[in-house]
Amino acid sequence: MSSKPYIIRISSQKGGVGKTTVAVNLATALSFIGNKVLLIDSDFINPSIGFHMGVENTNTGIRSVLMGKSTLENAALTHAPTGIRVLAGEIHAKTHTPTKSQLDRLFSEINKTTYNFVLVDTPPGFFPEDDLKAFGEAIIVTTPEMSSATAATRLANHYDRIHLKHGLVMNRRKNKKYELHIKEIEEMYDGNILAVLPEDEVIPTSVAEHIPAYIVDPKSEFSRGIKELANKYTTKFGFEYDLKKDPDSGFFSRIIARIVGLFKRGN
Ligand SMILES: Nc1ncnc2c1ncn2[C@@H]1O[C@H](COP(=O)(O)OP(=O)(O)OP(=O)(O)O)[C@@H](O)[C@H]1O
Ligand SMILES: [Mg+2]
Repeated sequence: MSSKPYIIRISSQKGGVGKTTVAVNLATALSFIGNKVLLIDSDFINPSIGFHMGVENTNTGIRSVLMGKSTLENAALTHAPTGIRVLAGEIHAKTHTPTKSQLDRLFSEINKTTYNFVLVDTPPGFFPEDDLKAFGEAIIVTTPEMSSATAATRLANHYDRIHLKHGLVMNRRKNKKYELHIKEIEEMYDGNILAVLPEDEVIPTSVAEHIPAYIVDPKSEFSRGIKELANKYTTKFGFEYDLKKDPDSGFFSRIIARIVGLFKRGN
């Protein structure tokens, strides 16, 4: 693997399709496989990564780094059960639109680190003027609904125009007749389908417990899909799959994470 981190933008044109859920769990699965992972919340309006991961609220996060008030490493928090570093959003901060020079500085700091993967969770939509050259690729998340899928193709066209590689994750498949079939999405979307993830009860449970679904139930259908996706990325970059670290076999880390999560529940 190259020494620079591989930076993935987790995105969608339409809101509420599962970007944060995919970002949190892909980060977790990549980390259990043995990768060093940085997870960034760049949703300045509704930051929620900290909540999903169960890392403490803080007044130092991505905004402090962009404003030059803190370094990336000082502002990032460690997610104890996995070791993932989390650059969360400041919950009480004002909405912030980063300038190009602030983003350039952030990405140049990221490129000096030794993370294997940097996952950036984004707010819905895109800004045509966004400079996205820093990203290795973008994941576009969609649900099997027409409005979401057409929005995904519009975002794909935007990425094509700026020559940013992209792949699609279809989330919340319920296998209902009224849903778009993956074949229909394939016809609409001119690109690589990376994963099809089911609607799964493990997600609301995990959100309530502030523990990634991949830890709550690694055998759930959702976790299996995420694991396959993480394996694809890891294989692509030449890592060995480390069974010892996987929560499928890491019984104790799973128990500890759940105890910590239950303790935090309601906080
Ligand atoms: N596979 C799934 N199964 C069940 N519930 C899911 C699944 N994926 C996401 N959800 C639920 O859907 C809602 C939206 O998910 P999430 O917050 O990840 O979306 P988002 O795209 O990040 O939203 P936003 O655009 O507001 O940032 C949440 O309540 C989440 O728990
Ligand atoms: Mg989100």
